[in-house]
Amino acid sequence: MKAIFPGSFDPVTLGHLDLIARACAMCDELVVALLVNPDKQGLFSVPERLALLREACAGLPNVSVVSSAGLLAGLARETGIRLIIRGLRTAADFDVENAMAQANRTLLPGLETLFLPASPAFSCISSSLVRQIAALGGDVSGFVPRGVAETLRTRFSHKEQT
Ligand code: PNS
Repeated sequence: MKAIFPGSFDPVTLGHLDLIARACAMCDELVVALLVNPDKQGLFSVPERLALLREACAGLPNVSVVSSAGLLAGLARETGIRLIIRGLRTAADFDVENAMAQANRTLLPGLETLFLPASPAFSCISSSLVRQIAALGGDVSGFVPRGVAETLRTRFSHKEQT
């Protein structure tokens, strides 16, 4: 079985990686897809996010990382993959995720979405929280892989000097 794990990964967090590791253990091939979420203002460019995501997923043998500027349903159609795996942290997540799952199945009949509950240790982590903590000079090393923490530190280091 092949599946797509989509997200905007701005940046990838330990919560994403926990879900990716659990999802890839369930399938033969997992395509981690960096897509555009038009509702979110980006911090990192797509090439930057992609590099951080690839580095974070490097140890997972059945995982490939791709990016697309189009619809998730379009990527599913192109690749022939009919299963999306998404994480759920809260009940509020469910409403948003359910709407996306229904829309994706309408756009491409047969395209199903499977929800994985976030592990409790990671259920409060989000990329937006990480961006905010880093922007205000906080330590994000408990929330993101080391490469991401270093990149965020460099990105916001000029603020500490002013
Ligand atoms: O990590 P995010 O921001 O929660 O991921 C949301 C994402 C990127 C999976 C969603 O916005 C998406 O699928 N974007 C691609 C464009 C698309 O297909 N939009 C319609 C979704 S029903």
